[in-house]
Amino acid sequence: MPITILDQRWILETDQSAYVLGLNTAGKLAHIWWGARLPRAVDYPRPVDPGEWSSFDTAAHRTPLEYPGWGGTDYTEPCLKVTFADGVRDTVLDYAGSQLVNGELPELILTLRDRDYPLRVDLHYRLHETTNLIERWVVVTHEGSQPVTLERVFSAQWHLPADGTYTLRHTVGRWNDEMRLVREPLMPGCKVLESRRLTSSHHANPWFSVDRGSTDENQGEVWFGALVWSGNWKLAAEVTEFGATRLSMGVNDWDFAWTLHAGETFTTPACLAGYTHYGYGAASRLCHDYIRSEVLPHGKTLHPVLYNAWEAVQFAVDEPSQMRLADLAAEMGVELFVVDDGWFKGRENDRAGLGDWTPDLRKFPRGLGPLIQKVHDCGMRFGLWVEPEMVNANSDLFRAHPDWVIQFPTRARTEARNQMILNLARTDVQNHLIDTLDRLLSENAIDFIKWDMNRNVSEPGWQTVDGDPREFWVRYVQGLYRVWGTLRNRHAQIFWQGCSGGGGRADLGILHLADQLWTSDNTDAKARLRIQEGFSQLFPANVMEAWVTDAGAGNTSLSFRFHVSMCGSLGVGGALDCWSAAEREEARSWIELYKSIRPVVQQGYQYRLLSLQQGPFAALNYVSKDGSQGVLFAFHLDEPGPAVFPRLRLRGLDPQAVYRVEGVEDTRSGAAWMEDGLDLGLGCLESTVRRIERVD
Ligand code: GLA
Repeated sequence: MPITILDQRWILETDQSAYVLGLNTAGKLAHIWWGARLPRAVDYPRPVDPGEWSSFDTAAHRTPLEYPGWGGTDYTEPCLKVTFADGVRDTVLDYAGSQLVNGELPELILTLRDRDYPLRVDLHYRLHETTNLIERWVVVTHEGSQPVTLERVFSAQWHLPADGTYTLRHTVGRWNDEMRLVREPLMPGCKVLESRRLTSSHHANPWFSVDRGSTDENQGEVWFGALVWSGNWKLAAEVTEFGATRLSMGVNDWDFAWTLHAGETFTTPACLAGYTHYGYGAASRLCHDYIRSEVLPHGKTLHPVLYNAWEAVQFAVDEPSQMRLADLAAEMGVELFVVDDGWFKGRENDRAGLGDWTPDLRKFPRGLGPLIQKVHDCGMRFGLWVEPEMVNANSDLFRAHPDWVIQFPTRARTEARNQMILNLARTDVQNHLIDTLDRLLSENAIDFIKWDMNRNVSEPGWQTVDGDPREFWVRYVQGLYRVWGTLRNRHAQIFWQGCSGGGGRADLGILHLADQLWTSDNTDAKARLRIQEGFSQLFPANVMEAWVTDAGAGNTSLSFRFHVSMCGSLGVGGALDCWSAAEREEARSWIELYKSIRPVVQQGYQYRLLSLQQGPFAALNYVSKDGSQGVLFAFHLDEPGPAVFPRLRLRGLDPQAVYRVEGVEDTRSGAAWMEDGLDLGLGCLESTVRRIERVD
């Protein structure tokens, strides 16, 4: 049984981990255990009331409450902060019952109620047994009559074992430089990571990984998690003065408020977290598996090799030039031809057009139909770029609905990249987008949409709001999910790519809608390797769209650039009409090779072998789930060189089976490849891709 109830304890067990909570001797719902699964349920400890240390440090402050409300003498990070109608701002949550839900996956609901006010808090736990993940979310219900204001409603607080000092891993970045992996000790106090921009992930990603001791890629304890949300979020990693370490995560409470009227509920996004004692690599593989099997709309479908001319032509898109590029792309073996920005009405540059999603008749006098037909005739699928959430002042949409944009009317509004943001919190805006995009998709044989969002929210005014305007941040994301979700349902065959100026909206929330993500606008292969390492911590390779472009062509060979992009979902974005016939032929052969290894790369297990954090080398291998096929990629970056490429030990092979590694004469056991490894002898700026095959 994945969920056992024993002596007022709830024991949640996945294949390899256990999460236990229960009522302590003071009747409080307290956290007990998160770590390795024990053979006997009775062996998990019982929660105790820690008692008072002093009048300044009461038992309330020292109890690892499962879902603390702000109140009393607990000064640690709360999950819930409420103002009741009479001005009381203190919450006292008591345990009020439990329920096991008989759904597809094991689920537990624990109910808390405020002692004096009609507020109910349901804590939901859903178990993903094979991926060792626990999914938590919270539903707050107002059972009284006077409105209540929620000022913080986190999805979860995760308590780490009390006897440790921990290291936090997370990513930081900025546009063109996303996913920089950071590793830092958690010290007493509170480390906050967050987004206040509406988009989730250029600057920090709603993902964490915590370890202790000597954890590395291949061994050691790791606690990790991510928020399923594409808006403002917050992670508060706190170490108390008593050495307790907790991570609270949820919708950001910065500029947040939500009014609950009689009978209304607020449901938080889910927060997923897991435990493994097999290192960072295993933590990533569990996330990859989960994302592919339970999150992505088309998780098992192999992603096509695409071509997108954005970096080559920018806004200079028209029917004849795109048709020429389509011919060249098809000859190279491209399977999906995407027309990026620049195709719609008035879009000569970034100062006009956003909002008017009909073809520009100067560029496409016959509409998109002939180009789509041509692309299909070439045996490719057709994709199109849109940025539905945005509008330029110079557009028919803005002229018709100037009040639809986010702004404070008394303030000058920022027009980042010359564009404004439509207020997707409004139902009329949502309906307009659904109708407009539905028409675009119904009238044209489109197979793929790249959905972009090229700026952050500023001056978050909502002119017609009928309620607390600070609900905007959450209502916008709910509106976005509604628009995109409705379109997905109506056009189930379409593949979607999520994008926000590169990797600005790379989160588990958007992956319920997007099949893949545009990783970064930085397509320089050397920079990409580092970005890809950060990206791979949470996301599987099929999600990671990676183009071979002309960026960095002066110092990296075409093969190096292909190898980097072949580590993910391969695309090409170079100026094909400027490539020589020999370069296009080389590209054709790499694409052909990629198609043969694609099932292993996109659907297999990924093992990071060498990290750019340790030196100018990167290597990783992928292994199919049945262990019969693998692929090895290795890269030697020049800086700070020259350095000798280290001997590589492969991972994830069956130790007893015999394998051939392409380019090496001897076949050897998986154990030999993993324990003894191989020398690739790569020089500066050299790279390699090698197929691995089980031969016995
Ligand atoms: C963003 C995307 C790019 C491209 C441009 C078009 O920056 O990340 O790939 O689509 O927008 O304006």
